[in-house]
Amino acid sequence: MRIDVVTIFPEYLEPLNVSLVGKARARGQLDVRLHELREHTTDVHRTVDDSPYGGGPGMVMKPEPWAAALDQVVASAGPGDGAVPTLVVPTPSGRLFTQELAQELAGRPWLAFAPARYEGIDRRVIEEAAERMPVVEVSIGDYVLAGGEVAVLVIVEAVARLLPGVLGNAESHRDDSFAPGRMADLLEGPVYTKPADWRGRGVPEVLVSGNHGKIARWRRDQAFARTLANRPDLVERWDRDGMDKHDLAALGALGVWWDEEAGRFLHTPVDVEQ
Ligand code: ADE
Repeated sequence: MRIDVVTIFPEYLEPLNVSLVGKARARGQLDVRLHELREHTTDVHRTVDDSPYGGGPGMVMKPEPWAAALDQVVASAGPGDGAVPTLVVPTPSGRLFTQELAQELAGRPWLAFAPARYEGIDRRVIEEAAERMPVVEVSIGDYVLAGGEVAVLVIVEAVARLLPGVLGNAESHRDDSFAPGRMADLLEGPVYTKPADWRGRGVPEVLVSGNHGKIARWRRDQAFARTLANRPDLVERWDRDGMDKHDLAALGALGVWWDEEAGRFLHTPVDVEQ
């Protein structure tokens, strides 16, 4: 996969040299290219922002440098990149980033990121880009960052680990929280490693029993309990057909039941621990 990032802070993206993403780059699985937005300015001050039309606080990123930078990225298409990149614009006003969107982006051969600083990029840049390439505006959560670079790191890491051959163990994302399948919309439960006794705390006995059926059952029960405690909003997405009688019994014990009329699982009020 090819990834281009246009930014005024290329150094903010240094972590792309480290760990999983860094190794994927070194192996040639990811071709990451950083571009300095200021190189596409034409004035001595290398200005990238200006005051907003209509007034209000903050500054808006000027269209000309962004357009010139994106033109250059698009013009550099190589064989195998795809004709145009999918432009990903991190913004708190975008579509929420989820595992599903990560999967969708992982299927594209070429992503270009346009992380903004200040109040955002002049809207016309996004509109004009959308006439030439797919554009997704993406929010990584309901909070406001000082700029989109951290969102780029989040999105690239989530996408990169889904690319074929990037994770060491091909099984590693099968049980991820939010992965499609039997564990969809369930948070992963707790995990343990050696030593078996640490500061007087043991490991749940079932995990050292060697009984794989029981271990799978325990993990699923833990996932139910953790999801109910931390993300009760996910409960209504659970699929009745994906639940066997053991699941339903475990859910019953947690105060979760299938409501035929509502067509979804309901639960007794959950105490949110502070
Ligand atoms: N830029 C500022 N806040 C953001 C957020 N929550 N997601 C993506 N980009 C952002």
